[in-house]
Amino acid sequence: MDKILVTGGLGFIGSHTVVELQNEGYEVVIIDDLSNSSEKVLDGITAITGKAPIFEKLDLKEKGKVEAFFAKHSDVKGVIHFAASKAVGESVKEPLMYYENNIGTLIYILKELKKLPSVSFIFSSSCTVYGQADELPITESAPVKIAESPYGNTKQIGEEIIKDTCKISPNIKAIALRYFNPIGAHESVEIGELPIGVPQNLVPFITQTAIGLREQLSVFGEDYPTSDGTCVRDYIHVVDLAKAHVVALGRLLKNNNKANYETFNLGTGTGSSVLEVLKSFEKVSGQKLNYKIVDRREGDVVAAYADTNKANDELGWKSQLTLDDAMSSAWKWEQKVRALE
Ligand code: UD1
Repeated sequence: MDKILVTGGLGFIGSHTVVELQNEGYEVVIIDDLSNSSEKVLDGITAITGKAPIFEKLDLKEKGKVEAFFAKHSDVKGVIHFAASKAVGESVKEPLMYYENNIGTLIYILKELKKLPSVSFIFSSSCTVYGQADELPITESAPVKIAESPYGNTKQIGEEIIKDTCKISPNIKAIALRYFNPIGAHESVEIGELPIGVPQNLVPFITQTAIGLREQLSVFGEDYPTSDGTCVRDYIHVVDLAKAHVVALGRLLKNNNKANYETFNLGTGTGSSVLEVLKSFEKVSGQKLNYKIVDRREGDVVAAYADTNKANDELGWKSQLTLDDAMSSAWKWEQKVRALE
């Protein structure tokens, strides 16, 4: 079975994708610099799939090591590239670090892929490229808006770099997957999200508040033009998202792609408000959550949810799990992580 490189394969989305790849029989090689992940994640992946993936600790900023890696693994047929920094606020404070981590390393990888006879490349992009879209739900043809942060800019620039490279390198076929809001954990509770420090994202903040690690959740704004005044997002279960990567990779490996570079939205197609997410959490956990409404957070868009028709029709992929499923798994995971501490 084909050998697939997963960069950032010990991270949140990466680890769930490695599980799905191994379940489909792919031979997986993970590289990860462990800057925002733990080697223990390998045990979780092995417990679920019964197979330990190959792992190399490698910092993609070390160009010579990237070259040496591809020289050794020249039989790689596909690369799923998750490794990147992803904290919006941090990117505003440390733009050069973000451009180096997210763009510099992408260039090193693509230079190596140009040398291979044929390779399929999947890129982690984000719905952040759409900014506040003029129309909802958001289709892939919606215009890319000026990025709100260096982080968002790295996703836009990354897409452009891949598109330009595919134009002149017929041996590289690529898909950029534009994720909406990934949440939840694997049903086995062997792997999940492991935020370092105070979580910036809603769902880990909710579960950490419920477990007593944070005193109170701040809900950022209740005066938005939405049904209950709080922002609306498309929360997608990480296991559904992981499966979409395997399907997208299969499309390229089987030459079913329509162009050498394609983009797909990955969402559920349904928008949920912050208060709806809270309600779902309270329902599945049986806990009351301590929260207060505070001012809007700078840079937040009012509403974003995916038009999923392109992914449904062309990938044959649809999300299966519900918001309640995702919140329930996130809560089980939080309890397990804290019990181990
Ligand atoms: C954020 C990033 C986005 C990035 C994504 C990656 C911003 C502005 N956007 O998306 O670029 O691709 O993470 O995961 O940071 N909320 C609260 N209280 C909290 C945390 C969040 O009310 O403590 C609200 C937010 O206002 C938002 C929703 O929950 O309406 C979701 O927030 P979050 O999980 O941070 O995701 P995004 O902002 O959509």
